[in-house]
Amino acid sequence: MQSTASEPDRYAVVGHPVGHSWSPFIHGMFAKQTGESLTYRMIDLPPERFRSGAIEFFTTGGKGLNVTVPHKQAAAELVNDLSPAAERAHAVNTISVKDSGLFGDNTDGAGLLRDLAQNIGFVIEGKSVLILGAGGATRGILQPLLAANPSVVLIANRTRSRGEALARLFKDLGIVRAVGLDKIPESSFDLVINATSASLSGETFPIPKETISAATLCYDLSYGKGDTPFTAWATSVGAGQAVKGWGMLVEQAAESFFIWRGIRPDTRPVLQALTRL
Ligand code: ATR
Repeated sequence: MQSTASEPDRYAVVGHPVGHSWSPFIHGMFAKQTGESLTYRMIDLPPERFRSGAIEFFTTGGKGLNVTVPHKQAAAELVNDLSPAAERAHAVNTISVKDSGLFGDNTDGAGLLRDLAQNIGFVIEGKSVLILGAGGATRGILQPLLAANPSVVLIANRTRSRGEALARLFKDLGIVRAVGLDKIPESSFDLVINATSASLSGETFPIPKETISAATLCYDLSYGKGDTPFTAWATSVGAGQAVKGWGMLVEQAAESFFIWRGIRPDTRPVLQALTRL
């Protein structure tokens, strides 16, 4: 059934599990702020039901999906066309409907870049970047990060070969290298990003404190109440600033909202509401 003009347009986030997602709250605030008529809900689909569930959502008139763990790569295979960022990452977090069919985009990297530039005031051009982790989160941010012209991006991963594979995949976009977590050089970086899932499980891992100076911005892609193990560690070894990924979360949502509705919401009140929680 296609939605009629009087019905709000339907959007959703698909994941497994998805109950922890802040996206309904964020898009609800964006819709209210901009006066857009839409609904946004959560859909929990296990991997074997992702494809059929997503197709059903669109064939019954759904307008757009956000896709989260573990479906981002499956979403890249589902859509008819991909943005350059999604194609390079082979991961999609935003699906929209175009005349040519389903279109897959990846707004994670753009969200991070916008948070760094607009909310934190950090300029990447010419800066050295250390990324911890070489999983899906790193894949999603490398293209926009390299496009901002850092002097070097070093990927440090527990499984070195995974970091090396990513460095090879993105090497035409800038200077990107890979080492094992135990081989990180003892010299300071301008930006250190935690893109491992270690924070989520409360685990920590040893990285040399020499990577951090009073001028270093430490950015944890994960978020939650209070410090993460990574931001707590970064602060304890004297990082100039240690931030969590709330800003990236809200900015990637704003990019999705813009793709779907053509309106850029004001992210500040949403970010304030989330970080006050
Ligand atoms: P995501 O989509 O969140 O990036 P992922 O693709 O499973 O999830 O990647 C998780 C990342 O966190 C990987 O880089 C993983 O390292 P490996 O490639 O060696 O598995 C890293 N990671 C997870 N737990 C870790 C830990 N305890 N110590 C160090 N790295 C860890």
